[in-house]
Amino acid sequence: MSTVHVVDHPLIQHKLTLMRQKNCGTKDFRQLLEEISMLMGYEVTRELPLKEIEIETPMAKCKSKVIAGKKLGVVPILRAGLGMVDGILNLVPAAKVGHIGLYRDPETHLPVEYYCKLPKDVAERDLIVVDPMLATGGSSVAAINFIKQRGCKSITLMCLVGCPEGVRAVQEAHPDVDIYIAAIDEYLNENKYIVPGLGDAGDRLYGTK
Ligand code: PRP
Ligand code: URA
Repeated sequence: MSTVHVVDHPLIQHKLTLMRQKNCGTKDFRQLLEEISMLMGYEVTRELPLKEIEIETPMAKCKSKVIAGKKLGVVPILRAGLGMVDGILNLVPAAKVGHIGLYRDPETHLPVEYYCKLPKDVAERDLIVVDPMLATGGSSVAAINFIKQRGCKSITLMCLVGCPEGVRAVQEAHPDVDIYIAAIDEYLNENKYIVPGLGDAGDRLYGTK
């Protein structure tokens, strides 16, 4: 079974509280999501393997560490996942970015795919799939399915707010995928929205409602 990391650093909790409030406008919501994504990205990348290389400082030659191994990729689930990309790219500017377009059918609440474009060498990369909301888990499970179909074996899911149902759904479908999340809220309402949550992340990010 995969590990669920609740990233509850005080700065993240503080910024998330600001985002949750219904009077937090689009500009602040967008900025806070990017800031939290950077802070969470710091934790998600904590276990990256290192290797030693020889360098020369102004004082002496020495061995020093750099990140080794596979390259990183970030895969936002459109639309709201886009708001988490720059936070990670601030930390890992060379990461490639793939996009998966999914929306939840308002009646069935099931994910509907409309776009998928991933880096060519996706199978050789460590991927971080990003989406602020993990509600039923349907969107994240479907996105990870697409990525696995392209041969990628190293996937981490990074979300902002989830609920027990969503976490369980991802763990059951993808027991090899670790989850990083800032908060696991109480429950899903009858429209499959997270309560207390923060409402519709895409609409709040882009001001579409
Ligand atoms: C939201 C959110 C997730 C999904 C979560 O996207 O960004 O992708 O719902 O719900 P689930 O876990 O039940 O699948 P939405 O479908 O509203 O699309 P949008 O980002 O384009 O608004
Ligand atoms: N999508 C959202 O944006 N918010 C929720 O609470 C559930 C799904």
